[in-house]
Amino acid sequence: MSWTLDEIPWDRFDRSRLDPEIVKLVKAASLVEFNGAAYAHHLCRVFYDDRDFQESARRWGAEEIQHGNALARWAKLADPEFDFEAAFERFQAGYRVDFDCGTSRRGSRSGEMIARCMVEVGTSSYYAALRDAVQEPVLKEICRNIAADEIRHYKLFYNNLTLCLERERIGLWRRLRVAVGRIAESQDDELAYAYYAANEATRAYERRRCSRAYAARAYRLCREHHAAHGVTLIFKAVGLDAHSLLARTASRLAWRFIRFRGTQLTKVNT
Ligand SMILES: [Fe+2]
Ligand SMILES: [Fe+2]
Repeated sequence: MSWTLDEIPWDRFDRSRLDPEIVKLVKAASLVEFNGAAYAHHLCRVFYDDRDFQESARRWGAEEIQHGNALARWAKLADPEFDFEAAFERFQAGYRVDFDCGTSRRGSRSGEMIARCMVEVGTSSYYAALRDAVQEPVLKEICRNIAADEIRHYKLFYNNLTLCLERERIGLWRRLRVAVGRIAESQDDELAYAYYAANEATRAYERRRCSRAYAARAYRLCREHHAAHGVTLIFKAVGLDAHSLLARTASRLAWRFIRFRGTQLTKVNT
């Protein structure tokens, strides 16, 4: 663990610098992060004969739980009525994945690592964007710590991907397919349901609405350099040159898409 909850300067919490829209995002993020143990268990099943990686995966899971705890504690400071335990129960009851399965949904161990890299690309960019956007000093510090962890997580999975590829030899197209598939899944239930469970307990769940509500707030935080950094990491994980013309073009397109989508969703949600 590179930091602990005791190192966070909780007494510097500044209510006058709160943004209620960011509080909603933090509540949702706390639920997704706190679910880390379930995924660590799945990774240990997939890598059943690899003790070293299992140990790393358990450490990784514990760090994700710590992210959940830090964000939940901050969310409670920001909104003393936030009942994290009840929200997490709602999230677990409504969002179900078979974490006990011993084979990867991605078809291979390399595929599993590419998918994990994509998630860490998303989280590292997201917390970096949040760190740069928020005014409240305690949340800024939490996001600074989490963003640094997420980059290390990416490296952990990327290094293991390199080892897996020595045995599995997966071609570029398959790697790309897994990467794009996992990025597309960010539109699915996990984030939308977390947003719902954390913020809208009294209404009925509607995936499209909750997914848009979450994305509208998240896209607004992103700046061009966050998008560029994400594209570099994605290219590296699929085995493409991260400094090529293609990478620069992809980066420009990604940024345009995020800006366009952010504006479009904001119009729908306000
Ligand atoms: Fe995390
Ligand atoms: Fe992570």
